Amino acid sequence: MDTVAYQSRRIVSGMRPTGQLHLGHYHGVLKNWIKLQHEFDSFFFVADWHALTTHYENSHVIEESVWEMVIDWLAAGIEPASATLFLQSRVPEHAELHLLLSMITPLSWLERVPTYKDQQDKLKEKDLSTYGFLGYPLLQSADILVYRAGQVPVGEDQVPHVELTREVARRFNHIYGREADFEDKAEATIKKMGKKNAKHYINLRKAYQEQGDTEALQAARELLKSQQNLAAADTERLFGYLEGGGKVILPEPNALLTPASKMPGLDGQKMSKSYNNTISLRESDQSVAEKIKRMPTDPSRVRRTDPGNPDRCPVWQLHEVYSDDEQKAWVQHGCRTAAIGCLDCKSPLIDSIIAELKPMRDRAAMFSQQPEEVRRIIDEGNAAARDVAQETLNDVRIAMGLTYK
Ligand code: TRP
Ligand code: SF4
Repeated sequence: MDTVAYQSRRIVSGMRPTGQLHLGHYHGVLKNWIKLQHEFDSFFFVADWHALTTHYENSHVIEESVWEMVIDWLAAGIEPASATLFLQSRVPEHAELHLLLSMITPLSWLERVPTYKDQQDKLKEKDLSTYGFLGYPLLQSADILVYRAGQVPVGEDQVPHVELTREVARRFNHIYGREADFEDKAEATIKKMGKKNAKHYINLRKAYQEQGDTEALQAARELLKSQQNLAAADTERLFGYLEGGGKVILPEPNALLTPASKMPGLDGQKMSKSYNNTISLRESDQSVAEKIKRMPTDPSRVRRTDPGNPDRCPVWQLHEVYSDDEQKAWVQHGCRTAAIGCLDCKSPLIDSIIAELKPMRDRAAMFSQQPEEVRRIIDEGNAAARDVAQETLNDVRIAMGLTYK
């Protein structure tokens, strides 16, 4: 049963708290969030429990990282008026849903998630043979499903986690989506759409169920999405009825792939704290200039008069991010003919990066001086997120028979 998330205007994404962010985070993730916050009902959160799966032995470092990261989100342009910003551990419904989902999740589904073995191999110095670490992707599934998000902005590496989320949601709906009087309720709900739409829905459903007409299925989904007078539970029920199964309690989300970022580190490798090749979002002008000036260049340019090849130079990768066509042509020609020196080549990059960072650094300084304002933003986000999460948990508890009325 391929159930679509009808609330497809909602997105949710999380970031593990890593402290102050750098240009790799900005170009790789934040710029995308900043754009999406205006297009979707956006929920962005600090995944502090996820950080605990790998940092359980030094859990006290997480707190400071949380606040530094939130300051950088705000500094970069995430707007609390446009997006709901919150802290995972302040919305305990994530944990409750995680626990409930764990009851129906086969161990083998978790063991075969590629990041499980990859990360264990990569972080050899840590003992990651824990229950919590195996459950990492299922906690992520709970993060997503608790908001019934339609889409999840993530990088390529996280796609298997969204895929797992879909499978878990499908299994949940299959097991718990069957109410005793489901058909009667669905038939009664159809009537709420009005005569014309009801007839249309019935015909489309028939075409899909009797002839497997997937276009009819699509049309019926669109019809349901456009029904503003139906309550969320009604719409869910009709989505489920459409496809023959039960009620869709937890809709299956889709990955919304983040465009791959070309932002290199100072040595040409991926920018990452562990490679010590970063420029932080709060880097001073002077430090930006020094770091860029110290960047290695094409080793064949020993003397100023030796021509070079941008393809062998990490500085060129930065031009790919920051320079327009004209400037790129200037680099290509100047480098290959030794018409420019490497410091000439670096100079416009220093200017571009400084110009990009200046407003962020100023805003970060402002928020750092107002910690209570940052706390207030997150408190408000926590409360708004909880409202949505509690609604979902209510439905989940009812579906599972855990209300004990
Ligand atoms: N696992 C994600 C990462 O490492 C972070 C994350 C946690 C997340 N929960 C999420 C991302 C929910 C998207 C949705 O980047
Ligand atoms: Fe690199 Fe520019 Fe020097 Fe060429 S001129 S080697 S691209 S820094």
